[in-house]
Amino acid sequence: MRVGVFQFEPKFGAVRENLDRIAAAIRPPVDLVVLPELCTSGYQFTNHYELEELAEEIPSGPSTVRLTEIAGKTDCTIVAGLPEQDGDRFYNSAVVVNGDGVLGTYRKIHLFYEEKDFFTPGNSPLEVFDIGAAKIGVLICFDWIFPEATRNLALQGAEIISLPSNLLMPYCQDAMVTRAIENQVYTVVANRIGFEARGGKKPMYFTGNSQIADCKGNVLYKGSGNKQEFHVEKVHPTLAHNKWITERNNIFEDRRPEFYESISLTLNHPNELVNDDISN
Ligand code: ACM
Repeated sequence: MRVGVFQFEPKFGAVRENLDRIAAAIRPPVDLVVLPELCTSGYQFTNHYELEELAEEIPSGPSTVRLTEIAGKTDCTIVAGLPEQDGDRFYNSAVVVNGDGVLGTYRKIHLFYEEKDFFTPGNSPLEVFDIGAAKIGVLICFDWIFPEATRNLALQGAEIISLPSNLLMPYCQDAMVTRAIENQVYTVVANRIGFEARGGKKPMYFTGNSQIADCKGNVLYKGSGNKQEFHVEKVHPTLAHNKWITERNNIFEDRRPEFYESISLTLNHPNELVNDDISN
């Protein structure tokens, strides 16, 4: 199976142009292509009207329709981040589409920074999508910092975790190597490049370095920090079925959940602001 990532600089508000760039970039043969978070719209909204203008219903919105068309023409499944409107709610979502239409939608459950001013936290369950060549889980960007999310998808049988991203901080790629090792799954980070500094807001510099890691945490591909790149790697999803890390240790069977029940409880913790620099 071939997995591709396309990292580029979406232009804010230029939905058609961004989709044209995606269409021009994807070169078959490739079975799964992961695109960045909010890759049709851009990231830094300055007011709610912009979001209302750019968010689309799924599956009827023009971006989903166009992505389906691109997937059909290139004979692949695409995971793409886009702003979704559902009634009066707005979600930071990712669609999974092939040439026949939408296989699923994931609505980001852990919103980052100013996303909280615009989007509703996701309400879709963490779900594994069977795309034929593999079973894939979808998370979006800041979800990386919650290992429970990847674990949940791995326990459901995900072989590949795809992570459309607009990363500002430098930690995610290393963490997704760890997520790969601790769950014995492939991890695919598609991260945008460039910057946005809209409406007098603080500039946001997006860090590229898209990455594909195998089930042992080997980095098969690491993109540049600042160049548009489409890259494809061969992967073997069935390797993710092997959860043995030694002949006596199975990473799923050896778990002792009775010792970490509190992981799903809300805890009282000191709540001091210690870092307001979002690039560190
Ligand atoms: C992020 O979740 N876009 C950092």
